[in-house]
This record gives sequence, C-alpha cells and structure tokens, in this order.
Amino acid sequence: MTRVAYIASITTDWVLISTVVVSLVVGGLMAKLLVTGGAGYIGSHTCRALAAAGHEVIVLDDLSAGHPATVDEFELVVGDVGDADVVKRVFSRHGPIEGVMHFAGFIEVARSVREPLAFYDTNLVAATNLVDVAVRNGIQAFVFSSTAAVYGMPEMQPILEGSPIEPINPYGNSKAMLERVLADVERAHGMPWMALRYFNACGAHPDGDLGEDHEPETHLIPLALAAVIERRDALTLFGTDYPTPDGTCVRDYIHVVDLAEAHVLAVEGLLAGRPSGAYNLGTGEGHSNREILDAVGNVVGRPVPHVEGPRRPGDPAELVADSTLFQSDFGWSPKYSDLDTIISSAWNWHQNQWG
Ligand SMILES: NC(=O)c1ccc[n+]([C@@H]2O[C@H](COP(=O)([O-])OP(=O)(O)OC[C@H]3O[C@@H](n4cnc5c(N)ncnc54)[C@H](O)[C@@H]3O)[C@@H](O)[C@H]2O)c1
Repeated sequence: MTRVAYIASITTDWVLISTVVVSLVVGGLMAKLLVTGGAGYIGSHTCRALAAAGHEVIVLDDLSAGHPATVDEFELVVGDVGDADVVKRVFSRHGPIEGVMHFAGFIEVARSVREPLAFYDTNLVAATNLVDVAVRNGIQAFVFSSTAAVYGMPEMQPILEGSPIEPINPYGNSKAMLERVLADVERAHGMPWMALRYFNACGAHPDGDLGEDHEPETHLIPLALAAVIERRDALTLFGTDYPTPDGTCVRDYIHVVDLAEAHVLAVEGLLAGRPSGAYNLGTGEGHSNREILDAVGNVVGRPVPHVEGPRRPGDPAELVADSTLFQSDFGWSPKYSDLDTIISSAWNWHQNQWG
C-alpha cells in the first residue's frame, strides 16, 4: 500500500469509527451515566428510561428517601453525594463515566423553611462537591433537577425560562444557586450542563412497579388517593379564594415518564454537543386543586373526602410552564400527561402497593 493509500485508509477507518461512535452516542446507545438520587421517584423512572435507550446506569443514593428495590437492575452505590471520597471512588471504580444526572436532594418546601441549613447543605454544598468531582473527571454532560420553585411568585403565566428568578423559600433558593454554580463552572472549566425545571411531577410507570412514594408525602395526587380509600384523614384544600376559575390553586402536572424521556433527550443532547441552559418541563396546561380531586374521584369511583382551609403562605395562585423551548429544541412532547393517564397510572401503582 502506498503511503497516500495507507493514510487514506486510516482516515476512512477513523471517519467510520468516529461516525459510529458519534451516532451511537447521539442515538443514545452507549453512554455510561451516574444517576444520583436514582432510587427516588423521578430518578428511578429516569434510570429505566436511560437503560431502555441503551445507556449504562450507575446509581449513587444514600437511601435517605430512596427505595433500593426500584433500582435492583442497576449497580447501586449507597452513599452521600456530599462525601468527596465516596464520589471520587465511584468515578475511579466505575469510570469512565460520561454524564451525570443529579436528582439527589431534599424536596419538601415547608421543611426547607424550618431547616434551611439542612437544605443548603444537601442541595447546594453536597451538590457542589459532586460538581467538583465531575469537573475533575472531564464530565461532558451534567443534567440537574431544578424546579418551578426558582420562579417564586411569577406575575406572568405561562412562565418562560427568561422570567425573573426570585425564589421565595430555601428550597427554591438552593436550586437557583446550583444553577448559577453550574453556569460559573462551565465558564471556568467548560462542563456542559442542563437544568430541567420541573413543574408538578406525578403519575407512575405504566408497568405498575414504580411510583411516587415520599415520606412524608406532600403532593396532591398521592394524598388524594390515600384520602379516597381512607388511608388518611380528609384532605385539606388550602385556599378557595384565589383569583382562579374555581378559587383553588392551579398547577401544571407533568407525568414522570414524560420527565424521564426529557432527561434521556437532555443528556444525549449535551453529549452530542448541544449548548448548556435551563429548560422548563411542564405541559402548558393548568389544573386546579378542585379539578384534581374531581379527576381522582372519577378514576377511583368515589369522591375524595376533603375540607376547605385557609391559604398557605407562599402558595402562588397559578404555576404553569411554557415548555415550548424544550419542545422545539429537542422534539419532545408530553405523551402521558393528560389527567386521566396521570391519575389512572398513579392509582394502579398505589393499588399494587397498598393491596
Ligand atoms: N417531585 C417533584 O414534583 C419535583 C418537582 C421539581 C423538582 N424536583 C426535584 O427532582 C429531584 C428528585 O425528586 P423526587 O421527587 O424524585 O425526590 P425523591 O425524594 O423521591 O428522590 C430523591 C433521592 O435522593 C436521595 N438523596 C437525598 N439526599 C442525598 C444525598 N445527600 N446523597 C445521595 N442521595 C441522596 C434520596 O434517598 C432519594 O432517593 C429532587 O432534586 C427534587 O428537588 C422534584
């Protein structure tokens, strides 16, 4: 073979290999991903979606709120994201890891008001430790669970990503701060990131074996399901005099399987070179608390026992996402987020749990 032919054949091989590698990554077939908080509600659904897309998943979860049975098909490291030795060991033993999906954290807004330091410690300090190790390991995709709570009490609905970031509680603050940490870290060290600002995650996996299991539970749909079968007392509707069509708060409910799908697209997008940024994830449609209770009653076949109470401080009347940016950038659209599918899937899972 002549020198030119030899070089041409190497070049052709290299182009072929690169094309295959790029298309495998872009096609979502081969990244090795660390999923923190993977044993939790949204994390466990996302692990399953990542595996279905062909990725290798390693879960890091301290099981403070997670359920190991939900990730028994994956490698699970039990540990704290704030423990630098643990995180470094995960990278050295399981590397090379290409992307990090960061779900781990505390989630209960009211607790964040009572225990702000615990929230900053876990949601910000521990997370910054993870970011540090991720940067040192050359991570090319860091996907972070942010929240609608970063917007506080927004005046305009539906909420765009460019709306003011004005959280009104330590939970929202801790998430907004980590978004800024990630932006600063990218400027300094070049680690691509994406903050996904979820609105109300809800529903359960269609297989019936994954669902929402928080302790304490503060989310309306699981509480309503528990009330309707008398596993708990009558539900309190906090505030019936809001400036909404029926006087109760309006929220944007996004099915957890749709969220999981968005995460797969997000990490694959970053690995394929998409730019960093923050995106809303919701449906763009609001449902009032009363509508949710009616829908739960219809699915279960019994009305949800409830009483009316005063407004809770810090509850905005309405929180509805404008998610058109993520839809247009990633070709995503919610498939499971109509109320009937949300509530039927949650009910199916809860029946399996409660017998
Ligand atoms: N559920 C929602 O409606 C919602 C809405 C917006 C944002 N989020 C965010 O999404 C993420 C996941 O929420 P979720 O509902 O699945 O919560 P979850 O409580 O079910 O899951 C969180 C997981 O993180 C683990 N964890 C907590 N602290 C840890 C630590 N220091 N080290 C390792 N693991 C730790 C827990 O054991 C749990 O498995 C959270 O960051 C939350 O703030 C959730």
